[in-house]
Parts: sequence; C-alpha cells; structure tokens
Amino acid sequence: MKIIIINGPNLNLLGKREPDVYGAETFEDYFSKLQFKFKDIELEYYQSNIEGELISKIQDTGFSYDGIVLNAAAYTHTSVGIGDAIKAVETPVIEVHISNTHKREEFRHVSYISPAASGVILGFGLKSYDLAIESFLI
Ligand code: DQA
Repeated sequence: MKIIIINGPNLNLLGKREPDVYGAETFEDYFSKLQFKFKDIELEYYQSNIEGELISKIQDTGFSYDGIVLNAAAYTHTSVGIGDAIKAVETPVIEVHISNTHKREEFRHVSYISPAASGVILGFGLKSYDLAIESFLI
C-alpha cells in the first residue's frame, strides 16, 4: 500500500510555528515515527507553500497511490483549485487538520476540501495523521 501525506503552506514550520496551537514537534520527527509505526505501508511525505505545486502533486499521485492524506492548511479555506483537483483524481483523499478548525476563527470553518474528500479528521494534533492513515487500513 502506497500513501502520500501532502502538507500545505507553513506546515514546514511545525515545531516553531504557534506551538500552543500546533505543538512543538517538527513534522520530520513525527514522520519518522509514522514510518516506524506503519512499517507495511510505503509512506511518502511532500510539503509545499505553493498552491499550484500542491495541485500538481495531487494530480501526479492521484491515479496510482492508494491514499492521499492532505492538510491543505490555509488553502483549505480558499482553494477551489485544490478542491477540483481532488474531484479530478481517483485516489481517495482524507482531509486532515492538526487543530480543531471549528473551534477557531469563522473563516476556518469553511473548507473547499471537505466536499471533495472521502473523510475528514481534525483536532487531534499530529495524531490526526495517524488516524487518517489508519482509515485506509479499515
Ligand atoms: C491547519 C488549520 C488551518 O486553518 C491553518 O491555516 C493551518 C493549519 C491545521 O492543521 O490545523 O495552517 O490546517
């Protein structure tokens, strides 16, 4: 099984960025733990701050991978293009957020990803990614 985690803008700063909201661990450290935990899964990780690059990665992986775990970060709340890319591909996409976006500012309550996603997991910290990967194993 081949699964890719795609992270959007500013998630390269995890560990440094608003640790009260997003925690103190870097994604690279967390990703090593995921690889150890899900040894039987071929896990890949991609991050970009650029909307078009995220769309290209969804297109490139969306016909051959078994799953995409997507945290589109701030683009969640603005990007028709990412929503359309998810609709265009065959691979199921699970939308993930570290924080509970519904507990936060109102602009974060809107998602252009959710109507296209197979499932949504949010608010469990980095564990949200664990849960998303596990959902492909059910
Ligand atoms: C986020 C929530 C978004 O609203 C925010 O813009 C992010 C991270 C999360 O994982 O909680 O960058 O997607």
